[in-house]
This record gives sequence, structure tokens and C-alpha cells, in this order.
Amino acid sequence: MSFFRQSDFVGDDRSSQAQEDLDRLIESIHQELIPHLEMESPNPRNPVIVHRVPEPWQLLGTGNYAGVFYHSDYSDLVVKIYATGRLGWEDELEVYRRLGSHPSFSECFYAENNFLILKRLHGVTLYDCMHRGLKIPKRVIKDIDRALEYARSCGLYPHDVHGRNVMMSDGRGLVVDVSDFLEEEPCLAWKDLKKAYYLLYLPLFSWHRLRVPYPILDLVRGSYRLFRRVFDRR
Ligand SMILES: Nc1ncnc2c1ncn2[C@@H]1O[C@H](COP(=O)(O)OP(=O)(O)O)[C@@H](O)[C@H]1O
Ligand SMILES: [Mg+2]
Repeated sequence: MSFFRQSDFVGDDRSSQAQEDLDRLIESIHQELIPHLEMESPNPRNPVIVHRVPEPWQLLGTGNYAGVFYHSDYSDLVVKIYATGRLGWEDELEVYRRLGSHPSFSECFYAENNFLILKRLHGVTLYDCMHRGLKIPKRVIKDIDRALEYARSCGLYPHDVHGRNVMMSDGRGLVVDVSDFLEEEPCLAWKDLKKAYYLLYLPLFSWHRLRVPYPILDLVRGSYRLFRRVFDRR
């Protein structure tokens, strides 16, 4: 079992109250969440499926590798639990270690086998913004660009930066998933998303409060993946 505290790697001066909260949260993860959580990842190309979340825990979001949950008593913290068989929590911890504290990213307060306790980002993913018809201003895109530049300056390689991994919060941009930022292989997801934003979204869609249903968003996601696979092979 590995054990890290935020103070081990960012020299933080969290108060003893915050430390007690963190300890209680870790206890609840071990005693209430993990033993009763039912989650599976049948296909690493699609989000994990969560069948059961024990009270008082709530599901906040899912990615292709992990589920993210919060406890109603600790609304500024989340726990990201990797599904059985999905590796990556140690790499993600290393990314947070390098990023330290930055307003456009979350922070890792604690990690151990298969889960990380992270700062909660109170935002809406760009994917969900499209679903809810929320207007995405240019500033969000520019903030994310700047955040990715900062990540590069920390020796990281922004990877897999797509609509479910970035958020809008009070008109500002945030990066919510950094788990693949150690992968040096180039990734065009963010460049392509920006092209779609400037060439399609801004001129055509940003004027209407268009709410895109999830099946259509998933169709776009799947088609994009297919396009990239065919195009990159050339
Ligand atoms: N720190 C956070 N604060 C708030 N929501 C989060 C946070 N981290 C993840 N989420 C939510 O959980 C979803 C899945 O998390 P993510 O890190 O993308 O998992 P994966 O690595 O499996 O792709 C995100 O799309 C987002 O909605
Ligand atoms: Mg993700």
C-alpha cells in the first residue's frame, strides 16, 4: 500500500481541522464506500458503469477508467476510484506531484492503491455544457490553453484533453483530468476540439441555446475516435 499526504509533496500548511476531515474521509472510503460500491469497466473505450453507490456517497462523474464520488459532509473533496483492472492511479499521482498548486487544476491530497482524494472542481464539463445548452465563452478555451502551457512547463505532456476532461466554472476554464499527462506520445484531442470550437461552435451554435442529447454527443465522440484512428494510420 502506498501512502501520500499533500504535505509530502507541495509543502502545504493545511490546518489540523482539514487534516482531521481528511482522516475521517479516508476512514469512510474504506468502511462505507469501497466495500459497498458496485462499479465495472467492461470496455476501456467507454465510461465505467456504476451500479451502486452507498449512502451518503454520491456519484459525480465517470471516465473510461474511474468513477468520481463525493461525500455530502466534505463538499470540497472528491475521491477518484479506478475500476478493477484499470491501471493509472500512480501516474496520476505523479502528475499532481509535478503540477503542485495551480488555479486551473485540481490537487491531490492523498492517494493509495486505486484511489486518489482530490480537490473538487465546481464546474461543468464542456461535454455537459453542450448537453445543457450553456454558452462557452472564448475565455474558457484560452484559460485551458494557458493551463496546458503551465503543465508543459512542469515537464508534462497534455494528453487526452477532450470535452469530458475540461470544465467551465464561472466563465473560466479548468482541466479536470490529468491522468495521461506522463504520456509523451503526441495527442491531437485538444487541438481538434479547439478547431471545432472556432470553426463550428462559435459561428454556428453559440448563438442558440442548443441542448445536444447525450446519444448525439456520444455519436460525435465515437465518430471522432474513428476519424482519428483512420487518419492517423495514413
Ligand atoms: N476534481 C474533480 N472535481 C469535480 N469533478 C471531477 C473531478 N475529477 C473528475 N471529476 C468528474 O468525474 C469525471 C471522470 O473523471 P476523470 O478524471 O475524467 O476519469 P477518467 O480518468 O476515468 O477519465 C469527469 O469527467 C468529471 O465530470
Ligand atoms: Mg477523463
